[in-house]
Amino acid sequence: MRESLLAWFETNGRDLPWRRTRDPYAILVSEVMLQQTQVERVLPRYLAWLERWPTVETLAEATAAEVIREWQGLGYYRRALSLHRAAAQIAADGWPDDLTDLPGVGRYTADAVACFSLGRNVLPVDTNASRVRERTGEAFDAGCAQALMDLGATVCLARIPRCGACPLAEMCPSRGRRYEPLRKQSRFEGSFRQRRAATLRLVAASARRTADLDPAAVAALEREGLVTVSAGRVTLPGESSVQLGT
Ligand code: ADE
Repeated sequence: MRESLLAWFETNGRDLPWRRTRDPYAILVSEVMLQQTQVERVLPRYLAWLERWPTVETLAEATAAEVIREWQGLGYYRRALSLHRAAAQIAADGWPDDLTDLPGVGRYTADAVACFSLGRNVLPVDTNASRVRERTGEAFDAGCAQALMDLGATVCLARIPRCGACPLAEMCPSRGRRYEPLRKQSRFEGSFRQRRAATLRLVAASARRTADLDPAAVAALEREGLVTVSAGRVTLPGESSVQLGT
């Protein structure tokens, strides 16, 4: 299976900018962005981010408000604050031996940085890689990481896999199967997430009166450290509310 997968990847693999670097900071940025956002949406934002903050040190010097604004459109903004705090920690103390000591870095992201940047022999298992492993019953090693992600993203799809286009089909015990969709998020969670995002966009554009905003959304954003509430005014963290928007 390994040989067939790697041969397929040679001709069908995607040419993505984070695959052209071994800079651990750039790879960390890409993996945090890719945690919950599609590749096509991440591409331009990854390039813009690295242009603005090319190193851990430059990101560490940015303000939280700048980081939140640059993250606009990527969603799940807590990731932006974690990435900013991770940069501050690395700038102060260097890279930790255990990458999961960094804020916002779990097993998958730590393994991805170790594999793609440091060349360690660990296979980062995201949902795509996990699906291909389960369906094929094959273990795969770290050298297959990018190929597994691409196969999972373009061929071995969650619901209706394209077995006709799959280099592993002949050897795959799950060939031809169909799968039920799984709803990852309830409708309520989805709509509340949108209300929070809309509220954050208003505050990022300019300070607002609390009374003019969705109270539950403001409370959730404040708990996550994405906005500051003071004297009836809501701002991005560290910004003043002298100029109120309407
Ligand atoms: N999704 C998460 N990490 C990825 C990567 N390195 N390449 C493509 N898609 C990904």
